[in-house]
Amino acid sequence: MQVRAAVVSGALAPGAKLPSSRAMASGLGVARGSVVDAYRQLLAEGYVEGRAGAGTFVSADLRGLICTVRRRAARTVKPRPVPAPARALAEFERSAPQMEGQPFTTGRTLIDARTAEIWRKLMHRAARSIGASDLGYTEPGGLIELRRSICDYLRAARAVRCDPQQIVVTAGTQQAVDIAIRVLLSPGDDVWVEDPGYPLTHAQLLLAKTRPHPIPVDPQGIVVETGLRKASRARAVFVTPSHQFPTGVALSMPRRLELLAWARASGAFIVEDDYASEFRYSGPALESLQGLDEDERVIYVGTLNKSLFPGLRIGYAVVPHGLLPAFLGARYLMDRQPPTLSQKVVAEFMQEGYFAAHIRRMRQMYREQRDALAATLKRRASGCLDVAVPDQGMHLIAYLDHHLSDIATETAAQRSGVSVRAISRFYRSAVPRSGLMLGFSGFPRQLVIPAAARLASIVTGLQCSIQR
Ligand SMILES: Cc1ncc(COP(=O)(O)O)c(C=O)c1O
Repeated sequence: MQVRAAVVSGALAPGAKLPSSRAMASGLGVARGSVVDAYRQLLAEGYVEGRAGAGTFVSADLRGLICTVRRRAARTVKPRPVPAPARALAEFERSAPQMEGQPFTTGRTLIDARTAEIWRKLMHRAARSIGASDLGYTEPGGLIELRRSICDYLRAARAVRCDPQQIVVTAGTQQAVDIAIRVLLSPGDDVWVEDPGYPLTHAQLLLAKTRPHPIPVDPQGIVVETGLRKASRARAVFVTPSHQFPTGVALSMPRRLELLAWARASGAFIVEDDYASEFRYSGPALESLQGLDEDERVIYVGTLNKSLFPGLRIGYAVVPHGLLPAFLGARYLMDRQPPTLSQKVVAEFMQEGYFAAHIRRMRQMYREQRDALAATLKRRASGCLDVAVPDQGMHLIAYLDHHLSDIATETAAQRSGVSVRAISRFYRSAVPRSGLMLGFSGFPRQLVIPAAARLASIVTGLQCSIQR
């Protein structure tokens, strides 16, 4: 490697003689055989050449080429212009906020000792029984046993209409949405997104060069009428009907029917992101929008990265029959198939009833965490924060007095080790409300309470200073 580096850098010029293998071996204090092997490798790669009776020399063929490398290396390295898509992606990378691990980072989950133990057991079992069929290529849509389990769960828990063949296992919502965009939309197509809405979906649509139109959300969810007025020719809409991101409102039945009627009449599609629907704490369970769809206009997207843990990277889409070949084709072209072993573990976790029990336990735990957060904020910052306690999901919104900037509050909180997300960031065209998005699912009560108290004192301090 040293000889190779010296040749490439020009320190050893073409034609230069290398020490004999004996001299090199004694200089380095290694066996001569090792040097002979290394010289053979350099010979095979074309760095050196042997001349009978004379020794080993840096290959004369490299003359001219090495100089170029050297000259290039000597120049100061200027940043090169990158292609426009690369710039867009790099900007996105920088904008990712949140302080991982600190309350109230959103999107985190907890795994109790029971689930951890069962998970370990199933992983070991899967690893021990690994066979030839687990090591090769499998179905791009996912293992049939997992698709069956997901299908059974969705029919029972979310009133989704499906058969196992319609389930396409993905790496999560993110990938399912990406595939849906590729399948449904061409560059320049109009599409509706919720305003405020999930920023990653918006970013994905921009990346695909479609034209996302932000459609306002009111207490009944996305305002379909405004969508029709703003972009009547939209080819698709991306919605979070059971727990709107970030506001938490549920799409009302009249709006659901309006959306379905629009999709049916216009030939558009609805992508339903049903994230975190497993965690419903009170009120009647809302069935999925897909369950109301008689015309196969809905792609339903769900994730196990929320119900289990984000590092799992397993989610799914329920795809209308007519779109299935295209969806599977795109899935195959992107990354061929989901990983076999983790699918096996999840399938067993679901089949053996552990998933349902895990959800029941976590629901109880998250409810307690939600209540501890809401109660502490209400007690310590009443008058400054209007806490919207959600019936579902993994985060809540604490609205601020509209004179108080949520971005400034986010910065102040971050300085004190409390991670909050200013919801004004999620607004596009609608007048933003000032509020904080707080994830309660990832932190036990004993962490939630002091962090909530700290946040309350930050907010009351800021509120007093603007009143003065
Ligand atoms: C609206 C919404 N959908 C989906 C997800 C989950 O995405 P994934 O399955 O890719 O982890 C999140 C995570 O924060 C989310 O907020």
